Amino acid sequence: MSATTQLPNDLKAQRDAFHEELKAMSITPLWLNLATAAQNEPKVDAVPHIWRWRDIKPMMLRGGDLISPQEAERRVLMLINPSFEAKSARTVGMIFGGIQFLMPGEIADSHRHSPNAQRFIIEGEGSYTAVEGERTIMKKGDFVTTPAWRWHDHGNESDQPMAWLDGLDLPFANLLDANFFEDYVEGDGQMQPIYRQEGDSIHRWGRGMRPAWQEPIEPRQSPVLNYRWTDCRDNLHALREEEGSPFDGIIMAYVNPLNGGPTLPTISAYLQLLRKGEHTRSHRHTSSTIYHVAEGGGGTLVGDTEYLWEEGDTFVIPSWVEHEHWSDGGEAVLFSYTDRPILNAFGFYREAAGDRRA
Ligand SMILES: [Fe+2]
Ligand SMILES: [Fe+2]
Repeated sequence: MSATTQLPNDLKAQRDAFHEELKAMSITPLWLNLATAAQNEPKVDAVPHIWRWRDIKPMMLRGGDLISPQEAERRVLMLINPSFEAKSARTVGMIFGGIQFLMPGEIADSHRHSPNAQRFIIEGEGSYTAVEGERTIMKKGDFVTTPAWRWHDHGNESDQPMAWLDGLDLPFANLLDANFFEDYVEGDGQMQPIYRQEGDSIHRWGRGMRPAWQEPIEPRQSPVLNYRWTDCRDNLHALREEEGSPFDGIIMAYVNPLNGGPTLPTISAYLQLLRKGEHTRSHRHTSSTIYHVAEGGGGTLVGDTEYLWEEGDTFVIPSWVEHEHWSDGGEAVLFSYTDRPILNAFGFYREAAGDRRA
């Protein structure tokens, strides 16, 4: 008998009283909440959304005039899914995306936190990120890792603003009640000491060799600091004659050289080439994705919504929504990252080809 069936008045009154008494004990009957606990498919609150670079950039420059990185801790414009509040830090799924920017001469002071982080450089050249004693000068399209609990700071030593897309597993860390943060307090508190040469992590771990006398700090985190745009883009083009993935074209995952897995334990990142005239098949999966247009233009159909994108735009595809991509006119390169390692780790990853055929 369902809860909505007509009941004799006395039984209804007894049930209502029973439910009220349970409520006062912080107990809820499952039979009143079956729709949340047992559903045929995920009910996804996050919605598809696109943030356009032409809208973000002027706000970034205004923000540069209004607040310093020191006042802000990190001057980041959080991209919050329209379905959620800022405190959730949810851009989509279990991942966060935000636009961080530094004006010429600015420094973002050193700190560390338990959420894992990564950057994809949107614009500018000449800023550095320092992680655990190594500095890397960042260029447009570079992919930089900042794994959990590593000291990191950024500085802009160039004469132009520098912007990048921050990616973190912040919503997951918050969900687990495991979010820790610490400011660096040695010296001037701004910059950690640099004691490794530039490129150290590549020479040590990123070229198919590793130091035989040294163990990595944490094998689930990639020890490579900077995956250079020119190298990664070259890889896509080297494989461009292949069929690639029917759903994503020539797509390659950034990997942790220690285990071949994702670059961070919770986030996998990808670079993909959509060739001229390419239009992928549709599919859906339980991982959620943040896309950033690194090069070119094109479109993505997400559910029933079509997003036409161009270089610098960022858009999201929530779990279990069917989607397909195409390049427009020329070729396009998309950077993306997903929470798939979390789903994989616990058996929640599911994927299905769509009904639509491009
Ligand atoms: Fe940070
Ligand atoms: Fe997909």
